[in-house]
Amino acid sequence: MEGKGKFIAFEGIDGSGKSTQVRLLAERLRSENIPFYTTMEPTDSPVGSLIHQIMTGRVKADPKVIAALFVADRLDHLLNDVNGISQKIDEGTTVIMDRYYFSSYAYQSVDAPMDWVIQANEQSSAILRPAVNIFIDIDPDTALERIAKSRFQRELFEEKSRLTIVRQKYIEAFDKLQGVEQVAVVDGNGSPKEIAADVWDIVKKCFIMG
Ligand code: ADP
Ligand code: TYD
Repeated sequence: MEGKGKFIAFEGIDGSGKSTQVRLLAERLRSENIPFYTTMEPTDSPVGSLIHQIMTGRVKADPKVIAALFVADRLDHLLNDVNGISQKIDEGTTVIMDRYYFSSYAYQSVDAPMDWVIQANEQSSAILRPAVNIFIDIDPDTALERIAKSRFQRELFEEKSRLTIVRQKYIEAFDKLQGVEQVAVVDGNGSPKEIAADVWDIVKKCFIMG
C-alpha cells in the first residue's frame, strides 16, 4: 500500500470492550488486505514493566511520577528502534492501539491537574496524533459486571466510584480538546458484532479521507 498507515486509538474505562474491538478490527483489516499492527499501553518495555509493578502495588510511587512514567513509556512506544510505531506508520502500516494519551488525560487527572497531564504528553501528540480516538462508552456498572465475569473479583464499590470519575474525566478531556483531536464515541452496550460494525464505519472514513 502507498503512503502512511493510519493510527487509530481505542479508549474507554476498564472492561468497556476495547481489546475485544481491537481484535475484531484486526480481523476486518486482515480481510480487507490492509497491513496493520496492534499494540497496547502500558507496554511491556522496562518502563511499562515498572508501571505494572506500581499498578499491582509492588512498587510505590506518587501519582505525578506515574503520569511521567506513562509519558516515558509512550515515547518509547513511539520511538524505539525495534518496534517503534512512528516508523511503522511511516512505512505504511496501520497501527491500532489499545489506549493512548487520552487514557492518561482521564486516569492520571484523577490525582493530578488535567492541563499538566496534557502538557506532559505534548511530545507524543506532536509526533503522532490519532486519525481518530474511538471511545467505547459504557456505564461503570456494566463494565464491572463484565470484569467480574471474566477476571477475579475486585473491590467493587471502590472500583465503581473510580470508574465513574474516570468516565467523567474522559468526557472533560474530549470537551477540552474539541477541534484539536478527532474523537468518535461508540455505544458500548450492544453485542461485540454491533459495536464492531459502528467501529468499522468510523475507521473506513479514515481510509476514504486519506
Ligand atoms: P477492555 O479491554 O476494555 O478491558 P475487554 O474487551 O477485555 O475490555 O472486555 C471485558 C470483558 O467483557 C471480556 O470478558 C469480554 O469478553 C466481554 N465483552 C467485551 N465486549 C462485550 C460486549 N459488547 N458485550 C458483552 N460482553 C463483552
Ligand atoms: P489495561 O491493561 O488496558 O486495562 P483494561 O483492559 O482493564 O482496560 O490498562 C491498564 C490500566 O492502566 C487501566 O486501568 C488504565 C491504566 N492507564 C492509565 O492510568 N494511564 C495511561 O496512560 C494508560 C495507557 C493506562
